[in-house]
Amino acid sequence: MSSILHQPLRILVTGGAGFIGANFLHRIVPQLSDTVIVNLDKLTYAGNLQSLQAIEKAPNYRFIYGDICDLDLVQKLFAEYQFTTVVHFAAESHVDRSIQSPIDFARSNVIGTASILQAAKDSWMHASSDMQEFRFVHVSTDEVFGALGPTGRFSPDTSYAPRSPYAASKASADHFVRAYAETYGLPVVISNCSNNYGPYQFPEKLIPLAIVRAMNLDLIPVYSKGENVRDWLHVDDHCEALMRMLHNGLAGETYLVGGSGECSNLELLRLLLTIVDEELGRTPESSWKLIKFVKDRPGHDFRYAIDASKLVTELGWAPNHTLEEGLRATVRWYLSNQPWLQSVMDESYRTYLKTQYEAV
Ligand code: NAD
Ligand code: TYD
Repeated sequence: MSSILHQPLRILVTGGAGFIGANFLHRIVPQLSDTVIVNLDKLTYAGNLQSLQAIEKAPNYRFIYGDICDLDLVQKLFAEYQFTTVVHFAAESHVDRSIQSPIDFARSNVIGTASILQAAKDSWMHASSDMQEFRFVHVSTDEVFGALGPTGRFSPDTSYAPRSPYAASKASADHFVRAYAETYGLPVVISNCSNNYGPYQFPEKLIPLAIVRAMNLDLIPVYSKGENVRDWLHVDDHCEALMRMLHNGLAGETYLVGGSGECSNLELLRLLLTIVDEELGRTPESSWKLIKFVKDRPGHDFRYAIDASKLVTELGWAPNHTLEEGLRATVRWYLSNQPWLQSVMDESYRTYLKTQYEAV
């Protein structure tokens, strides 16, 4: 693999106040000290500037409060900064919310992506020579491929078959990204990653939800019988994969990211709750009784599993976390970051934002 130390000059990160974007910024802001890194985020309920306190004063970092659907704003940012790299995270990301409010997903995930692509294309086409290595890294999901049965894995050749409004909006965004590559030659790389977990994840997603509920001895809702299977990956391993795509990914290529962390929701929760009990000094398995089976999610995809061999062989990527050690590190993070968690649970993180950004 060629060096990943050549630094892009100016990076636009969208959605950097969310879960994966914040973890990505924690990695690149100190590492790429000669690179200007701009974070454009609308600060929806999922955007939390308190997740970025450790880097917010770094001289190479700027935060821009704004909507990716605002083409004028996005074009102005491209004109001002002449970005050499875009890493596009911003999206509505929760399947259950997409079932309640599908139009919000169509707006941010489809129109928003088209708007970022349009501004990127215009800037790149009229750029000077330091744009030779321009890359647009689009952060997508394995959910675009639909649901698997008990066997098989998604590969880069798997056809798109989204089944939730979230998955449909991400699939549509992926098609726009491909269209900009085919039609205008924009140098894009698409990442389709499996379910992530780790620090700063909003506690509506299964793993942080279960940790928080278990800490408070509250019931943990599990859809149907907990037999649905997900392929869990620690967020640091996803960020490492994105760095490799950013530096060495071939223009026009798609890479699937997954760490062979397949397990049913019930298996996952039993492992997670065993760790919570150990970390809190509780009787082993005592938290298992908090699991409560509830009505299934409509259209609930049965199973996701990833064949990441292209990423492994072509970009030399390998996950660093086993599921058990990644879950333990995550449980410890939530236990030892009570101020962050408390401000999310009592929604005071929104007040903090309102004092700075009046329109929130
Ligand atoms: P998240 O919901 O935690 O964060 C999304 C961020 O995007 C928030 O900061 C939010 O304020 C911002 N945002 C939303 N709409 C916006 C808009 N219109 N303009 C500007 N900013 C906006 O999401 P996440 O879990 O960090 O996921 C990031 C990306 O990774 C998403 O594109 C998601 O589809 C993809 N992905 C997530 C997972 C996962 O397991 N979480 C797995 C694979 C891919
Ligand atoms: P989630 O974290 O919402 O991610 P996704 O739906 O994008 O895979 O859910 C992970 C799995 O956990 C999924 O099969 C749905 C299930 N789930 C529950 O059983 N209970 C819950 O409260 C939540 C949020 C999810």
